[in-house]
Amino acid sequence: MTDHLIPKTMGQQFGRRSWAEPWKIKMVEPIKMIDRAGRERALVEAGFNTFLLHSEDVYIDLLTDSGTSAMSDRQWAGMMLGDEAYAGSRNFYHLEEAIRTYYGYRYIVPTHQGRGAEHLISRAAITPGQFVPGNMYFTTTRLHQEMAGGTFVDVIIDEAHDPAHLHPFKGNVDLDKLQVLIDREGADKIAYVSLAGTVNMAGGQPVSMANVRELRALCDRYGIRIYLDATRMVENCFFIQEREEGYADKSVAAILREFCSYTDGAWMSAKKDNLVNIGGWLALNHADVFELACNMVVVYEGLHTYGGMAGRDMEALAIGIEESVQDDHVRARIGQVRYLGELLVDWGVPIVQPIGGHAIFLDAKRIYPHLPQGQFPGQTLAAELYLDSGVRSMERGVVSAGRDPKTGDHRYPALELTRLTIPRRVYTQAHMDVVAESVKAVYDARQQTRGLNMVYEPKYLRFFQARFERL
Ligand code: F0G
Repeated sequence: MTDHLIPKTMGQQFGRRSWAEPWKIKMVEPIKMIDRAGRERALVEAGFNTFLLHSEDVYIDLLTDSGTSAMSDRQWAGMMLGDEAYAGSRNFYHLEEAIRTYYGYRYIVPTHQGRGAEHLISRAAITPGQFVPGNMYFTTTRLHQEMAGGTFVDVIIDEAHDPAHLHPFKGNVDLDKLQVLIDREGADKIAYVSLAGTVNMAGGQPVSMANVRELRALCDRYGIRIYLDATRMVENCFFIQEREEGYADKSVAAILREFCSYTDGAWMSAKKDNLVNIGGWLALNHADVFELACNMVVVYEGLHTYGGMAGRDMEALAIGIEESVQDDHVRARIGQVRYLGELLVDWGVPIVQPIGGHAIFLDAKRIYPHLPQGQFPGQTLAAELYLDSGVRSMERGVVSAGRDPKTGDHRYPALELTRLTIPRRVYTQAHMDVVAESVKAVYDARQQTRGLNMVYEPKYLRFFQARFERL
């Protein structure tokens, strides 16, 4: 057979080598799509807020990657080994050992989920009136810092605020911005640097090893501590392996240990990277902050050897940590996100690039240029997508950014996005095709789309419970 007789697609297939998930499916959960009239009803009842939909009315749920992972057979087996003692459960010691082994920190405080740990670190490490510089805000993180009397200051590089910029490490801290803040306020007014890898609100964008190393050197000159939001740090390490010189031959696990070694502690929403449905932890290298956090955990979470988790949850988490740092797991996880993103890029749908670790962020500003930010383009896009196919996404724009606590005005972030967040080990490539086709259909109908009006707004973290009407 000569080359020109082979159809092009077949020829491509013969030459290609695909990746596949390093697992097979043992148990399934049926899902179904309700009809369009049903979706319209459900959306109006939910006040056009995807957080207020019943999950039974959702077909493919890309609201979040938080607590939505599928656990492995080993994790489920671990659930049977729960030691539900009030104090000193053996599962706690297993968890402590896993965090010490893979993240490398000395002292561990378990919490019910990430924001429990954020509460403890914010209260333990911020004196009212201090500043907390960080590489872009996260909703719950910043609120806990503000409630502890701190003021968050964004010191991420400018490229992070540009959805089309192809910088490989858009999560990096701009050291000049940090230096300006230190010079202006004095080092004693800086509570700590709040460093996140990857950066959720920037589109799942990573921080480079070179950047954290330089950050460490700068902070050492002033005696400033660095606390890491390690929620999606494993995914960050995959990008370092892929993109940063000198790391191609290192394992994700080795890169994680090195990265964490430049920081003084970390808080974790174990519901993401760590592959469990509930749980969190705070890990610290200094005894002074540990003592404060360890004392506060018994007031707000539970005893310092369970922190709001059942013994079985801690066992599943300890096993999940080990599974989460395996190279083939991370490659397949990010590969699936990239598969969806590349389909959309090929079809001309504007998304945040480079494609990040946990989600595809649709650029609602560019999709709906006729909608001012005050008509909530990101929220509108999430509603339209649900109407089209029952796919649930979430807004990451002006609604999520909330109001300035001093002026009471909306904060208008440069990024007005809608997030399609991919749960770990849950959906197949066929689900990704269905999602991509629905996004394309909504994109094609963009010119006829009207915006929303906010009719109810709670005081804290309004995006969870706000209600809207169609304009
Ligand atoms: N930090 C980051 C970067 C997060 O993404 C989250 C949660 C938290 C902290 C808080 O952790 O939910 O366990 O209390 N993010 C979820 C999301 C809610 O959908 O992005 P939590």
